[in-house]
Amino acid sequence: MIAAAGSGERLGAGGPKAFVKIAGRPLLAWVIDAFRGAESIGAIVVAAPPGTEERVAAEFGVEAVRGGEHRSESVRAALELVGDEIAVAHDAARPLVTPALIDLAVARLAESADADAVVAAAPVTDTIKEAGAGGVVERTLDRSRLWAVQTPQAFRTGALRRALEGDVSGATDDAMLVERAGGRVLVCEAPAENIKVTTPLDLSLATELLRARA
Ligand code: CTP
Ligand code: MG
Repeated sequence: MIAAAGSGERLGAGGPKAFVKIAGRPLLAWVIDAFRGAESIGAIVVAAPPGTEERVAAEFGVEAVRGGEHRSESVRAALELVGDEIAVAHDAARPLVTPALIDLAVARLAESADADAVVAAAPVTDTIKEAGAGGVVERTLDRSRLWAVQTPQAFRTGALRRALEGDVSGATDDAMLVERAGGRVLVCEAPAENIKVTTPLDLSLATELLRARA
């Protein structure tokens, strides 16, 4: 399930981020290639920007559904087409994902019988502080326990379905909904270069990384 329905406001490219070209191809094309290359993936569903479903299906040769207003609503729409035991959610905004990382997340989940989800994540390298009103620091978190969570995120489909019931508008990833529902989520270490393209700075960085890979 590729969440591609966002408007890309912070990138400011004047249209949906998934169609913005990076190293010569749309962000979504890089992501679809990685999923096609993953042995653990049987089918791809894209949650597309409303009104572009047919174009996405035709141009990229995938199933496409109308995305929702919030990210997890887009994942919920895509999940309706999933009949398998494991479902993987990924952001179209992470074009540096690799088949190996997707397969690793799925394999970890398959071998962890008591887990509901496995999420790609990188150890945090900055010191993270919590600050309140006026920027007054309240505490410094223990960095050795912190992970910057990415996608892909692999789920037991039933657990994800239950977690996506109700209001999901405030969720920044799907795993937090599984956690909220009492589920067990594991991190699996991913390369820090699997960045999310959010701002123009990220776009430049991701362009360099994709070019270097080619
Ligand atoms: N996404 C989605 N449906 C939404 C909102 C976001 O499928 N209603 C997807 C985006 O397409 C992106 C991923 O979720 O691949 C991560 O979201 P984000 O980086 O916030 O992308 P945008 O919402 O497009 O960007 P912005 O918040 O700057 O508008
Ligand atoms: Mg957004």
